[in-house]
Amino acid sequence: MSEHHIHPVPDSFKAHAAIDAERYRAMYQRSVEDPDGFWAEQADAFLTWDKKWDKVCESDLRKGEVAWFKGGKLNVSVNCVDRHLEQRADQVAIIWEGDDPSEDQMITYRELHTEVSRLGNLLRERGVKKGDRVCIYMPMIPEATYAMLACARLGAIHSVVFGGFSPDALKDRILDADCQVLITADEGVRGGKHIPLKNNADKAMNACPGVHTCLVVKRTGADVGWKEGRDIWYEQEVERQSDHCEPESMDAEDPLFILYTSGSTGKPKGVLHTSGGYLLQSAMTHKYVFDHQEGDVYWCTADVGWVTGHSYIVYGPLANGATTLMFEGVPTYPDASRCWQVVDKHMVNTFYTAPTAIRALMGAGDKWVTQTSRQSLKLLGTVGEPINPEAWEWYYRVVGESRCPIMDTWWQTETGAHMLTPLPGATDLKPGSATLPFFGVQPVLLDNEGHEIEGAGSGNLAIKAPWPSQIRTVYGDHQRCIDTYYSAYPGYYFTGDGARRDEDGYYWITGRVDDVLNVSGHRMGTAEVESALVLHPKVSEAAVVGYPHDIKGQGIYAYVTLMGGEEPSDALRKELIDLCVQEIGAIAKPDIIQWAPGLPKTRSGKIMRRILRKIAANELDNLGDTSTLADPAVVDDLIDNRANQ
Ligand code: WTA
Repeated sequence: MSEHHIHPVPDSFKAHAAIDAERYRAMYQRSVEDPDGFWAEQADAFLTWDKKWDKVCESDLRKGEVAWFKGGKLNVSVNCVDRHLEQRADQVAIIWEGDDPSEDQMITYRELHTEVSRLGNLLRERGVKKGDRVCIYMPMIPEATYAMLACARLGAIHSVVFGGFSPDALKDRILDADCQVLITADEGVRGGKHIPLKNNADKAMNACPGVHTCLVVKRTGADVGWKEGRDIWYEQEVERQSDHCEPESMDAEDPLFILYTSGSTGKPKGVLHTSGGYLLQSAMTHKYVFDHQEGDVYWCTADVGWVTGHSYIVYGPLANGATTLMFEGVPTYPDASRCWQVVDKHMVNTFYTAPTAIRALMGAGDKWVTQTSRQSLKLLGTVGEPINPEAWEWYYRVVGESRCPIMDTWWQTETGAHMLTPLPGATDLKPGSATLPFFGVQPVLLDNEGHEIEGAGSGNLAIKAPWPSQIRTVYGDHQRCIDTYYSAYPGYYFTGDGARRDEDGYYWITGRVDDVLNVSGHRMGTAEVESALVLHPKVSEAAVVGYPHDIKGQGIYAYVTLMGGEEPSDALRKELIDLCVQEIGAIAKPDIIQWAPGLPKTRSGKIMRRILRKIAANELDNLGDTSTLADPAVVDDLIDNRANQ
């Protein structure tokens, strides 16, 4: 097995990385034995405080209550921008690479400061103040970062909604957080295609009377709808603002942002992160996991609409005064060598992406990689889903020319920052393993009764002590936060993931143990897709499961039962797919729809997803016990009519 294939720490990192194996062990031990002392030192080293905290950590995991650096005061935008001006005003903060390879832009820390201050003043002029929620629905352009930081400057809470979400999904999120301001663009540009963001926003805002201001960045100059009084052009209004914007001094526990993510039930939840702890752990992991050095050019390919974009395009790197690359496009446009062209063009040192992208590029063939130099690369990273050892080895050998260690980082929207991860100067790598806990993180494996498993073994991955960038609540519904994360195993934070721990203490994430899908690294609840499908008047019932997909990791497999008298057809199949796109977005398109005259249910009416998963994965000789089904014949029918993949 791949376990035997160990890649030791490269000599180059052994020599200069901030943390070697011995230091990792000592620091880790200290971090769990004296967490308050450890984190106080880190908070001092990484952040600039207006006022020191009264208490490092207060927590009661049974109630889902966590607070870090209470009483401490700081402003996140000051930490990400202002404090760097003395040393690095003329250093590039953001390299923007457009979808079109001929377009790029360099933004220095001085310019970033001007942009964030002007936008902060404009938002203030429109009435935005501490605690208000601002929705950001943007393409990958620098203004998305300005918007996040301008909110942070005012103490307003941003809620970034991925630009690929539909008007309906946007509307739900605006309403849930009661956002009164929306920042968007006329259109987005990705892979040569235009995305009608303002049109989508208009549809959403029709159902959101609370939005009094919509700032629109002109990206393409497309014709867009306009509502006088509410809609204003970003550039025009920002230009006349002053370059000075007084930052709000925030409590460490004041909210920084809300980010919606999917769970196994109900609508997406607004995960709330606060200011001090979140910024500390995102900065610290960015520094240590990527071994960030002065002058490095760092590129994370995520979208700012996801947590990876928040922590590792914006907050972590900017808090560290790094140069962060922001890419508007996709890895396969204009062709499959785009990423490596960009690496060569901007001399990128660190490249952080998702396994799904690696698999897609691997499928396109080595020549797209080998035609480029990539000599600037020192370190590679992956995030979002388990990486199969084959893709890991390809990434290592072909992209990194066996020179660059790969950091497989496991974490979640709720954890805010890396939790399980190698450190490049400290950790021998095993392809497919997220390896060991980051400082202060105490993972455990629990059996189904909630007992901790010792030594090597498999179980439910939980965390038994608080960490600084931990979820604080589900916006507007703390009970839901408790129910989702803290009630399955009282006293622990439950991740929803399964994992195995090997003899060396390395963790191997085996994937979700709940009804959450991970499609191309995007999280989605099966229930969300099912709710979209049953909106169709001809559908009586739907059950959605994931199945193994070569590129996406997981594909979406939907079993659909039609109303009596309705006939399946290709046209209906298309209508159902369109419905998912309309309700959620293109990421929620089912890959396979199987018409199911009946679904396997227990006598009490519960759908047995375990069986549906096996059928979807074509593991037919291993269906397990079907004797408790109300009608076992249903299963034979589903197998006989299994959709060809
Ligand atoms: C999965 C993304 C294996 C996992 C940062 C987790 C991973 C979910 C890894 C969170 C990894 C993330 N190896 N699985 N390195 N990283 N996951 O909230 O199932 O979008 O629970 O956060 O992605 O997804 P989310």
